[in-house]
Amino acid sequence: MKDFKDKIDNCKKDFDRAFRQIKDEKSLQELRNLYLSRKRGSLTLLFKDLTTLKPEEMPAAGRMVNSLKNYIQNKIQTLKGKFEAPEKVIKEMDLTLPGRKKYWGAPHPVHLFQEEIENIFISMGYSIEEGPEIETDYYNFEALNFPPHHPARDDWDTLYLTDNLLLRTHTSPVQIRVMEKHKPPIKIIIPGKVFRRETLDPTHLPMFYQLEGLVVDKGITFAHLKGTLEFFLKSLFSEKIKMRFRPAFFPFTEPSAEVDIGCTVCGSKDEACRVCGGGGWIEILGSGMVDPQVLKNVNIDPEAYTGFAFGLGIDRTAMFAYRISDMRYFYENDLKFIHQFFLK
Ligand code: PHE
Repeated sequence: MKDFKDKIDNCKKDFDRAFRQIKDEKSLQELRNLYLSRKRGSLTLLFKDLTTLKPEEMPAAGRMVNSLKNYIQNKIQTLKGKFEAPEKVIKEMDLTLPGRKKYWGAPHPVHLFQEEIENIFISMGYSIEEGPEIETDYYNFEALNFPPHHPARDDWDTLYLTDNLLLRTHTSPVQIRVMEKHKPPIKIIIPGKVFRRETLDPTHLPMFYQLEGLVVDKGITFAHLKGTLEFFLKSLFSEKIKMRFRPAFFPFTEPSAEVDIGCTVCGSKDEACRVCGGGGWIEILGSGMVDPQVLKNVNIDPEAYTGFAFGLGIDRTAMFAYRISDMRYFYENDLKFIHQFFLK
């Protein structure tokens, strides 16, 4: 038994020595044959030798040969894997498959457009204010001179949370919040989300962005409003943009005007234009002189101060500026769509 154990130990030592010399697959295969081949392999011979032992020695000796066999098999298998790996991977790799893309995001086009608008007003000395998206009836309507149950409220399709709380339908309530806290001169813009009970279609969304403007000071006139909006629209679109003021009604401005621009999609030339309906004009914003009653509601003396205000839909205006035929594209999260604006 002692002899047999020595044989096993020597066999292992020889193997280890030879194994350390192996540099390629071919010599590894030769080593494998030397130890594991069925007919002449050293291990096979050791198994044969077992028969020369006494019957009671056989089980323990058998276990020793087996564990040496496992040891050798494992070492050879591991090294074989290492030699084969690179070639095998290349063989199994389909080089015709498209590469894996990294999906980078991009700033949202509506946000980029909002910044463009903000920058124009910042250049005119305006500052930016914000307000809550959940409003009370008072700020969204009453302080803006909509009496309770007044039919004008129906023009703002309101989503109510309770009798008194609602999702703001416009950014105008922030006019009130700012005038309550600050005395004139006031010269601000108010960007933000607004909500209306609308069914989605190419030009209507239940959630969209507005940008409000408010200027209150001594001696502010309609001429200031007109000049400001003209400068703004020319900076945003082009020097050549056509614009017109149309009389309109808002409870919180008097007089009020809606502003149209010449259709940016058909250039006012297509009678079948889907955007302007062939009329050649598209409505872009609401505006007017702050109603004296609104100034009274926030304790600003309308005899001493006057002001103007305006509001426009950011998504809607972006649609005209980028000539997009459907506003819903903005909210589909399609990276191909989103990237076009950022990489412009
Ligand atoms: N708040 C109005 C709307 O949502 C727009 C507007 C703002 C009109 C300011 C006049 C002055 O339609």
